Amino acid sequence: MAARRNIPYSVLPTEDRDEDNIDRRFTYTPKSLRRIPWKSIALALFLLFLGSSLLFLSYFIFTGHMEGDSTQVYGLLFLGILAFLPVFIQKLPPSDLDRVTCGAFVGGVPGDHSPEQLSGRDPGSQERQAGAAAGAAPRPRKAATALRPPRLPAVPEQASSLHRLPKHRVAVTGRRSFAARAGSYPGNVGVPKQWYNLIADLPVKPPPMLHPGTHQPLNPSDLAPLFPDELIRQELTEERFIDIPDEVRDVYELWRPTPLIRYRKEPALFALDAGFRGTWSEVFAVVIWQGQEAGEAARHAGEDLLQTAVLGGTGGGSNVGALAFPFMREKLAGRMNPQFKAVEPAACPTLTKGVYAYDYGDTAGLTPLMKMHTLGHDFVPDPIHAGGLRYHGMAPLISHVYELGFMEAMSIQQTECFEAALQFARTEGIIPAPEPTHAIAAAIREALECKRTGEEKVILIAMCGHGHFDLAAYDRYLRGDMIDLSHSAEKLKESLGAIPKV
Ligand SMILES: Cc1ncc(COP(=O)(O)O)c(C=O)c1O
Repeated sequence: MAARRNIPYSVLPTEDRDEDNIDRRFTYTPKSLRRIPWKSIALALFLLFLGSSLLFLSYFIFTGHMEGDSTQVYGLLFLGILAFLPVFIQKLPPSDLDRVTCGAFVGGVPGDHSPEQLSGRDPGSQERQAGAAAGAAPRPRKAATALRPPRLPAVPEQASSLHRLPKHRVAVTGRRSFAARAGSYPGNVGVPKQWYNLIADLPVKPPPMLHPGTHQPLNPSDLAPLFPDELIRQELTEERFIDIPDEVRDVYELWRPTPLIRYRKEPALFALDAGFRGTWSEVFAVVIWQGQEAGEAARHAGEDLLQTAVLGGTGGGSNVGALAFPFMREKLAGRMNPQFKAVEPAACPTLTKGVYAYDYGDTAGLTPLMKMHTLGHDFVPDPIHAGGLRYHGMAPLISHVYELGFMEAMSIQQTECFEAALQFARTEGIIPAPEPTHAIAAAIREALECKRTGEEKVILIAMCGHGHFDLAAYDRYLRGDMIDLSHSAEKLKESLGAIPKV
């Protein structure tokens, strides 16, 4: 008990935070960082002394002040330079460090270069130039931030460097194994600077949202009680690109461990039972924030991606939309010909069994009426493990492109998904969340079909979450307790009947 008395307790910050608005949790400095690194200092001094002595010796022999022949000069010079090498490597910026450690260029880690920086071009410039040529006023660079969200409290320098250090190390380690396993992929890109808005490129614009009371098209002001102004502007705009606020990009950067993995040589996922390797198919597994990254990667990769299957586990549609829309842009422009498939759970088959109608986004009927694929806002799906996909509706834009025939949909039962998930976990060492297992199961089906027909195809899936909190579901599957759940036709009929008549 006595030892406990000296613990330096401090008051935890309240909701309102301290007067200076700094969260004390971020001002904590671990003891290890407060210690003076004597051993490192001693080693650095020793290397400095050794390197300088060797260089001086070689200089004196070279100039004839000391005896010795030319081979000694070069040997001492070489050893002297070697002594300085560790310091030199420390000085390299992060992306160069990656190059050194992985033997290949890999980007996408904090402090990394965006594709525009790499190629020296601005992504919005072509569109701005095209707009200017058509007489439209060029869009100001920061237009989207007219109403910026309040700034988060500034994180003290010490804290930000704290969370950066291990993250970078993790990223490098991840890449090293990736580089060793899959070969280098030169097209990794930085955190995107703009969101892409598919509406700008669609030949037919989606139907408007309706006021839930009057059933008339919504005014932006009708949304004001629900959303901040900037979100309303983004929701209704037809601009092709929307600047991503720096604060959001910072958050994207935090959880961005491995942006793009290309299994070119070893499609290990399928090597297991299909018994083939790398000749007929490639698999992209993307741990992704934005399909935009994959879109950029597609541009980098060029022709390689022409025949692509883009598959996303689908609940409300954000994951599959983010993954597919940048590729859909390429398809609409005639530069690629990918297929898009939304993969939904058989227990909540919104696209494959729902109707395309105006319905509420929530069960209480408070949201605007949106034209979408819906099972009825009263529909309660059976309790499958992919909880994130148990949503009665579908994003209006996904529903719209599905209606236009630009996207296909399929549904899969949960036991097939978990079987695929186990295969993936055993071969890739990644435990997927139940939601992306739908995309994995569909990718396996797609790959086996390619094997049968001999077609070559890149298969792109989004790993939208890990399953570390879903081990109970894996346990149930492995015990043989998991059952397939389907919707009851009666329940569906009832909820479809409750859709408002517009
Ligand atoms: C891992 C995961 N993926 C996807 C989703 C949602 O699906 P969608 O992206 O189709 O809205 C969720 C929702 O909770 C989720 O947890």
